[in-house]
Amino acid sequence: MSASPTPASEGDMRMPPLGASHQPFKGRKDTLLIHGGIDGDPLTGAVNVPVYLTSTYRQPELGKHLGYEYSRTGNPTRAALEALIADLEHGRFGLAFASGMAAVTAVLSLFSQGDRIALLGNVYGGTFRVLDQIFNRFGISHVTVDPADGEALAAALAPPTKALLLESPGNPLLTVSDIGQIADLARRRGVLSIVDNTFLTPYLQRPLELGADIVVHSATKFLGGHSDLVAGLVALSDPGLAERLYYIQNASGGVLAPLDAYLVIRGIKTLGVRLDRHQASATELALWLEADRRVARVYFPALPGFPGREVQQRQADGPGAVLSLELAPGGDHRAFLEALEVITLAESLGGVESLACHPATMTHASIPPAVRADMGISDRLIRLSIGLEDVADLREDLDRALTAAHAGAGAGGGGEAAGAAREASSPSAPDSATAAGVVNEARNADAAVATQAAEASPAADVTREARVAGAARGPLLGAVR
Ligand SMILES: Cc1ncc(COP(=O)(O)O)c(C=O)c1O
Repeated sequence: MSASPTPASEGDMRMPPLGASHQPFKGRKDTLLIHGGIDGDPLTGAVNVPVYLTSTYRQPELGKHLGYEYSRTGNPTRAALEALIADLEHGRFGLAFASGMAAVTAVLSLFSQGDRIALLGNVYGGTFRVLDQIFNRFGISHVTVDPADGEALAAALAPPTKALLLESPGNPLLTVSDIGQIADLARRRGVLSIVDNTFLTPYLQRPLELGADIVVHSATKFLGGHSDLVAGLVALSDPGLAERLYYIQNASGGVLAPLDAYLVIRGIKTLGVRLDRHQASATELALWLEADRRVARVYFPALPGFPGREVQQRQADGPGAVLSLELAPGGDHRAFLEALEVITLAESLGGVESLACHPATMTHASIPPAVRADMGISDRLIRLSIGLEDVADLREDLDRALTAAHAGAGAGGGGEAAGAAREASSPSAPDSATAAGVVNEARNADAAVATQAAEASPAADVTREARVAGAARGPLLGAVR
């Protein structure tokens, strides 16, 4: 690792005391969602963490304070969320930022001129962009590598690589990476492993337990869960790294505001029940879509035969609720998206409402077309984040959109896909009954995996000594939000 940031003064290195004095709640993961972090308000007995809308704090005398001095440096509501994400990820330290990208940027600020970051497979377009367009200018380079290609991976982890960054499942092709195996390989080479856990959240996957060094989140997604905020989180266990990140957080200032910190805490309380329902509907729809000839391919880690399905079952408690589909040849993605009535065409994912996105022109637009094509992101690829609506309404909506996508091909002289569209079964046709059987099997399999995982770690033993708490787009920027 290159030189760490130098503290401006001794005070800069101090970890705020509220997080340090917090006793981690020991409980199973559903209980941690409600009572993890700093639970309620010991002063008044309020069951919710108060929203501390203050920029500064009275100091009783010169050189003394009550634990907080200035809200960029530390805020009690933010500290509660920072303690909560540390508990949920089974880490020791947590930090909250103004967005997922602010969290990624802070983590990448650990590195110095001459260092290289290896991006494993498909990562969020904004992560690629900040490296490619900003960190690149400061002499921090990056390389994209297919984690399935052992030789290429070994080469990418050689000096000057100081860290790897991966998302599993990847965005938008849901590629599964073996986090434990990759983190182990990285550690043996002195390379830090950073995992973006946005798609699964700690409810389904805990990368630190699998051997990763740093976890980042766009809490804008499932953690917040209601499409009403933008936030980023980091969790880690190494005190030295945590201290440097806390320094970067305070020095660069991209902190999460107290009200948004409160909303993320509130969102996390219902994360378990939401994700259970999100992923049950996603599994049902993925199986239904896969059986439909208007669709060339479905990307979803629970599908039988999906590459990485076994790894996913081993390292996560479920497949999550994001899936991608590629329209059959001739399918018009624009007509598909325009025909949707229940599912909203929008950036983002993880909210209570189902969202559809066109990666090639939205989330991944800033990736050069040649690189994008290489990654397998075609114009016929649609990413869906499955929400909490009635799954029958979602199925009918997708059926309508698939018919619209292939209507033009029929009028224009037919073709394989148009024929398939004409013959395709309706959502209530016998085909979907077969799919329903497989859905139940898949659900049972997922439930069995979840039960095994819960039994394997009955209590969240997250003892810790301290924690970091109270640790315009232009043409160049592309269309990635
Ligand atoms: C996987 C992933 N990581 C990071 C980000 C960036 O998060 P934010 O939009 O909160 O800055 C996103 C946003 O879509 C994302 O999908």
